[in-house]
Amino acid sequence: MIDVERLPARHDGNGPARPLWLLAELTYACPLQCPYCSNPTEMANIGREIDTDAWIRVLREARDMGATQLGLSGGEPLVRKDLEAIVSEARGLGYYTNLITSGIGMDDERVGRLHEAGLDHIQISFQASNEQLNDFLGGTSSFEQKKEMARRIKAHGYPMVLNIVLHRKNIDDIAEILDMAETLEADYVELANTQYYGWALENKDALLPTREQLVHAERVTNEYRERLGNRMKLYYVVPDYYEDRPKACMSGWGDIFLTITPDGMALPCHAARQLPNIDFPNVKDHSIDEIWCESHAFNMFRGLDWMKEPCRSCDERFKDYGGCRCQAYMLTGDMYAADPVCSKSPDHHVVTDAVARANERDPQEAAAQPLIFRNPKNSKRLHGLVDGEP
Ligand code: FES
Repeated sequence: MIDVERLPARHDGNGPARPLWLLAELTYACPLQCPYCSNPTEMANIGREIDTDAWIRVLREARDMGATQLGLSGGEPLVRKDLEAIVSEARGLGYYTNLITSGIGMDDERVGRLHEAGLDHIQISFQASNEQLNDFLGGTSSFEQKKEMARRIKAHGYPMVLNIVLHRKNIDDIAEILDMAETLEADYVELANTQYYGWALENKDALLPTREQLVHAERVTNEYRERLGNRMKLYYVVPDYYEDRPKACMSGWGDIFLTITPDGMALPCHAARQLPNIDFPNVKDHSIDEIWCESHAFNMFRGLDWMKEPCRSCDERFKDYGGCRCQAYMLTGDMYAADPVCSKSPDHHVVTDAVARANERDPQEAAAQPLIFRNPKNSKRLHGLVDGEP
């Protein structure tokens, strides 16, 4: 059992930091190629996946430290043949397990096996409300399979939880998206506007919606909310770029979130791998206890001492902890900077310029802009690797 005295303090001083939320990114392999995927673009250069035994050790050690929520994601977690074994172990340990999937690689039998293994919750994603756009964005034919799997999930007694990532190319279809969700008898719908990490950042100019599009989508969502009440719960997430205060990313670095990547790297958030000169620990070499309590990587942005101005003297630093470290790095090249989403940041213009470009662009030109799809070939191209390299 963990010695509570060893646990670091939370940002808000409210109890010790514990890895309550464990995200197991089981694989970066995925049959889809979504251009807004938040996975790292350098996926072609990432080492071998850890095996079942390593995952089971991670689950046990994190549970000992207080982890209760387990997200199973990827890539596409169904690609892993040992998914049922991992779920079964997690269930035995007392986790609440949530599978985050595209539904590709699933059939009725597999839903049954996962149910039997003790899986608590399944979230299935759609790219769009019609076959043509859905299959274009996913880079493969998947729409009918997704609809069928959504029905199968419900037939096995799970609440139906749909996730649709919104962006410039599908957000105008919000009513059709919600009609589809209603026809499928969804219980919860997460309308998550794209946030610009990973592949989405590469495609930002093609994907960032206009203000008018966002206002329309939110208005339509509210109309459906009013009509549907609790029958279908709708969650609408605004893109950071349209906010003027940053989010308290991950509820604070190293406060409650622990991500383990397919190759065993431990990260305080799903995007941190890109941050420069940080030696992120790997579960192949360290226990979760060592990683969480002692590693330099997990301690470097804990608390408020690392902050520079304007965060250091800002009244709101106890609320947003300076925003997202990854977004600060992606947009300014300085991971210690204030998140440029914040209107107090000296770099806020980077965000407002992107928004201005999105709003001023000729719609036809924006629609014609090619997308960079998430696949190994594009990963190699972006990172200067040659084909044939691992
Ligand atoms: Fe890494 Fe926000 S996504 S700190």
